[in-house]
Amino acid sequence: MKKNSIFLCMLVMLVLPACSAISPAQPTPTPDPFIVQGRQVFNARCATCHALEPNTTIIGPSLSDIATVAETRVDGQSAEEYIQLAILRPGDYIVEGYNNVMITNLSKELTNEDMNALVAFLMTLK
Ligand code: HEC
Repeated sequence: MKKNSIFLCMLVMLVLPACSAISPAQPTPTPDPFIVQGRQVFNARCATCHALEPNTTIIGPSLSDIATVAETRVDGQSAEEYIQLAILRPGDYIVEGYNNVMITNLSKELTNEDMNALVAFLMTLK
């Protein structure tokens, strides 16, 4: 009996530090390479006009929470559809207070993969 409780005690001492070492540590998120690619496209093609900080207007509106905003823009369009159309056919919906100055030839200039990565990146901005 006594041996048993010593064993149990040792077991607890072994396991407890292991648990406490695991739970409070924040797992470092591994950046999804597709999202990283999308962010690079954004930096190269969009960051001149769009900030990612809230309430910051460059030439276009801030996209800090575009995944949330996009859902509310056009009835019947999902956030993803709205973002895609906002890039490919920016004239379809003009954000109030802004001019329709976005370049419209991106569908020819971006590869499908870059386009999908860009949309995937923007969908992380909630
Ligand atoms: C020459 C400046 C310019 C560039 C470059 C540009 N945009 Fe825009 N963008 C604007 C302006 C101005 C608006 C607001 C008018 C409108 O709705 O088209 C806008 C609107 C948007 C919207 C809709 C925002 C909302 O709140 O509904 C999205 C999404 C967007 N842009 C994404 C992009 C992405 C992604 C790129 C890069 C591929 C890009 N833009 C490049 C100027 C630009």
